[in-house]
Amino acid sequence: MTEPRVAADWYESAGVRGGPRRMLQEDREAGLKVFPEHLVPHLHHEGLAGLGADTRQALLTQHFYQYMLFTSQLETKVVNRGAAMVAHGETDVDLGPGARLDAFKIYSDEAYHALFSLDVVQQVEKTTAVPVLPYDFAPRMARLERTGHAFLPDHGSLAHILQVVAFETVVTRMLARIPRDETVFRVVREVVGDHVRDEVHHHAYFTRYFKELWASLSPATRVKVACAMPHFVDDCLRPDLDPVRSALRTAGVSAELAEEVVRDCYREEVLAAGVRDAGRHTLGLCESVGAFDIPEAREQLHLLGLTD
Ligand SMILES: [Fe+2]
Ligand SMILES: [Fe+2]
Repeated sequence: MTEPRVAADWYESAGVRGGPRRMLQEDREAGLKVFPEHLVPHLHHEGLAGLGADTRQALLTQHFYQYMLFTSQLETKVVNRGAAMVAHGETDVDLGPGARLDAFKIYSDEAYHALFSLDVVQQVEKTTAVPVLPYDFAPRMARLERTGHAFLPDHGSLAHILQVVAFETVVTRMLARIPRDETVFRVVREVVGDHVRDEVHHHAYFTRYFKELWASLSPATRVKVACAMPHFVDDCLRPDLDPVRSALRTAGVSAELAEEVVRDCYREEVLAAGVRDAGRHTLGLCESVGAFDIPEAREQLHLLGLTD
């Protein structure tokens, strides 16, 4: 068995151990955007072409807030729930003392990611005076729990661990490009860069973790896990559309137009293509252990539109 591990020099290299607090300084951000516009599909809808520059700016800022608040919720409510279980040995497979200790390093990283995500939201709100809309993580949590209940009703802790594997191994390639995007606020590029640097190690840890976990499972549990994984990938990557609706309505867009924009910009085939793309590493990981040789699991992939 190979123990999953994070960086050997974590005490020196992790953001939480020695990284600086990132501060927004207005003079450094002149002429820059808070978030890349191309990552906000609804900004490009023709029905919104007539919006003024300030309103477009507010919509972009709301999208940035939602992404950061989603991150801080996800880290603390989903990833750290699982990381703590791994550290305490409260899982179906205990991968050794080093792996358990490293799970607490990940826990510390994620708590820090939640902290700096909220910190940068508050700094941007203060500078731009675009008020943060409330962000509700409950629908995402409900989707994740529903998948757990549907496929792993008798394996609560396993479901929680698999949710972490899914979130920690999907690759949001577009996000990884933000640190190099010179049109974006420097403070945002720095914060996203700090985050991506830590996550590279988490990705490696949970890839190894999943392989060892899979090897330890009974054939019957493998079927359940293989069926659940495509759903967990979909649950974590599919965007929430209610925050888009509220951002549009708050910007003064009519309910009717807001619905039309959401319908046009977030069509099912576009959403499924996004999940396929960002989820390909996780789905590839499942494929590599033979999970999708199981016909029931292939059926679930197909149902979700995740087959090529
Ligand atoms: Fe993180
Ligand atoms: Fe992580």
